Amino acid sequence: MSSMRAVMFDGAGGPEVCKLTTMETPQPGPGEILIKVAAAGINRPDVMQRMGLYPPPPGASPIPGLEVSGTIAAIGDGVEGWQNGEKVVALLTGGGYAEYAVAPKQQVLPWPKALSAEEAAGLPETFFTVWSNLFQRAYADSGDSLLVHGGSSGIGATAIQLAKAFGLTVFATAGTDEKCSFCATLGADVVINYKTDAFEDVIKARTEKRGVDIVLDMVGGDYLERNIKCMAVGGRHVTIAFLRGPKTSLNLAPILTKRLTLTGSTLRPRSADFKGVIARELHEMVWPMLDDGSVKSIVHKAYPLEAAAQAHALMDSSAHMGKIILQMD
Ligand SMILES: NC(=O)c1ccc[n+]([C@@H]2O[C@H](COP(=O)([O-])OP(=O)(O)OC[C@H]3O[C@@H](n4cnc5c(N)ncnc54)[C@H](OP(=O)(O)O)[C@@H]3O)[C@@H](O)[C@H]2O)c1
Repeated sequence: MSSMRAVMFDGAGGPEVCKLTTMETPQPGPGEILIKVAAAGINRPDVMQRMGLYPPPPGASPIPGLEVSGTIAAIGDGVEGWQNGEKVVALLTGGGYAEYAVAPKQQVLPWPKALSAEEAAGLPETFFTVWSNLFQRAYADSGDSLLVHGGSSGIGATAIQLAKAFGLTVFATAGTDEKCSFCATLGADVVINYKTDAFEDVIKARTEKRGVDIVLDMVGGDYLERNIKCMAVGGRHVTIAFLRGPKTSLNLAPILTKRLTLTGSTLRPRSADFKGVIARELHEMVWPMLDDGSVKSIVHKAYPLEAAAQAHALMDSSAHMGKIILQMD
């Protein structure tokens, strides 16, 4: 059995638990593809896993990492349409922080030609998540308006760009003026520094009290009631995380009077077939935009695999804008 370099979490804790180690190289089972990893994306859910708050789902690799770019190194039984040596990106349920990773065939997409290894590695987790939540769950459509919090995050940068690409008006919040400028360069129509302005007041004023059609929320806690205050009749609220906590008290009346829909989802435990549907839609609707450069993968900083602890420290600091990436070579 050959071995490979990988980063594991040595217990639960701060960035220092990221440890470079040697692991057995995985082999693809039926319906799976082995990828020689060029680069791997870091996501906030990896930080939650590192802190012991988000255990890998049953069957997932114990190695962290939810997305990679790379080259196909081996193909399992029952996989058609892919060849050894093809350049791909893949959404994983784990295993990305390593020289080799196995992905279910449904979760593999072509590496968009114009993108570097780092840019390509940063695509799957946020593009699958935003597509699934914004377009499939919240039925986003041209002419709708969207409020997205954490506009400068990996998820936020993707949400702003995809919403604009599909004809939505975008309101974004972020915690510094620099992050707000970044959101504006991505196309956000109205950007709000939530530390200096109450976002619900700005949205009320900028929509002539109508409110927004969709809220994509990663903040939770007291934001839910505040979000509801700035939603239009028929609005859809999608919870994808709760950085300010999972509990809140709420006046239920606007849900009835404005006929709101409150929903949410988490991507990682969903089946490969479910993720395959998202992959097919992304390939058809979004990959051409990555190929022609109208939608971009925004990389804040890339680190070599052995510096995973520094990469996690940067994510902990929340100083980044866009994606943080690990390079294998
Ligand atoms: N449900 C799913 O399937 C799914 C999938 C992927 C990711 N997620 C979640 O989506 C979120 C974003 O992920 P990511 O990888 O893009 O992370 P990220 O780049 O680290 O972004 C997190 C953002 O949250 C903002 N933030 C942090 N604490 C906040 C607070 N108390 N109030 C308001 N804003 C706050 C930070 O910006 P400021 O400096 O502006 O505060 C930061 O930009 C994470 O919570 C992640 O767990 C969910």
